[in-house]
Amino acid sequence: MNASVPSSAIYLDHNATTPVPPEVVDAMQPYLTWSFGNPSSDHALGREARRAVEEARGRVAALIGASDDEIVFTSGGTESNHLAIRGTAAVAPPSRRRIVTTVVEHPATTGACALLEAGGWSITRLPVSREGVVDPQGAAQSIGEDVALVTIMLAQNETGALMPVSDVAPVARVRGALSHTDAAQAVGKIDVNVDRLGVDLLSIAGHKLYAPKGVGALYIRSGTPIEPLTLGGGQERGLRPGTENVASIVALGVAAQLAQSRVAHDGELIADLREQLWAGLVARIPGLVRHTPARRCLPNTLSLSFPGVLGREVLERAEGVLASTGSACHSGVDTPAATLLAMGVSPDVALGAVRLSLGRSTTREQVHAAVAIVGEAFAAAARRV
Ligand SMILES: Cc1ncc(COP(=O)(O)O)c(C=O)c1O
Repeated sequence: MNASVPSSAIYLDHNATTPVPPEVVDAMQPYLTWSFGNPSSDHALGREARRAVEEARGRVAALIGASDDEIVFTSGGTESNHLAIRGTAAVAPPSRRRIVTTVVEHPATTGACALLEAGGWSITRLPVSREGVVDPQGAAQSIGEDVALVTIMLAQNETGALMPVSDVAPVARVRGALSHTDAAQAVGKIDVNVDRLGVDLLSIAGHKLYAPKGVGALYIRSGTPIEPLTLGGGQERGLRPGTENVASIVALGVAAQLAQSRVAHDGELIADLREQLWAGLVARIPGLVRHTPARRCLPNTLSLSFPGVLGREVLERAEGVLASTGSACHSGVDTPAATLLAMGVSPDVALGAVRLSLGRSTTREQVHAAVAIVGEAFAAAARRV
């Protein structure tokens, strides 16, 4: 970390973005310097760039149990969601003009659905339980013969809640609809396999799994009808034209390979640290509320609300702890997170929320230090009310 962020800082914001490890940076380096070819060029430098892109494609495919030709590289989770949703809607049969989604999706999914809604599509937005999870039976019931696509995220970014995608995707298939999942928060944190999930499309965001920002992928099951959002040079089988971001694609490949080798082990360690963090905080702060479901949750995410104070007020005082509040502050007015409200959390409690998201480099010592710092920050914030 640089001068403005001390090296002692405790980074608990891995759902916002992850650091890029040295082996990933090293793998990118040649493609930013001497090996700068365009993968479409038919000479040695071009062929080396093409080889590197295809190697990365294989690595990303292997991480999620897909075939290489089912991976399309994109600029990240946002673009992958738009391509999946709007790209399949563009070629859906006229009798299917409805999308089933949830009330807690990322704005990229919400935005793609809103665009279609403005164009005459109808959107069914499924509610979530108190634990932030969609009811699989309710989801199944909502999938009629008029549905083109079901899009339910695999893991919720704020709460870590894991959705019953593998229960719903087969129902979509039987009813003739496609299924997409936004797995931006899940890939690299838990084992993700497209066949076990049964989905036709799955979004990946590189910077959530220790690759750089601005690269991602969309899994498209072979045979899925889909059109590109933009037209151009025909790269990525015409589905995502534009000269490939070779260095970042290579990085995503290496990050995927690393994730595959360590996801199970990391998950256990990180979940254990997350529980220590929770236990330490709740022992110091009576009335602390945990939103993160104890079961069915990403191993790294802890969403909680401080009693009687704003989450922002605690984090501002928690010097050295880098984390997110769920709420937004515009022109001095704090607005509670829509995800928590959708779970039935009261606005007052939702305003006290923070999201602590752990990662590979989080240590036991950091967890102990964070408990002390956040505990004191809460006490200081509470004294001021
Ligand atoms: C669940 C989810 N989907 C999509 C995105 C968007 O990904 P990107 O930042 O790569 O566009 C994010 C990023 O926060 C996310 O958490």
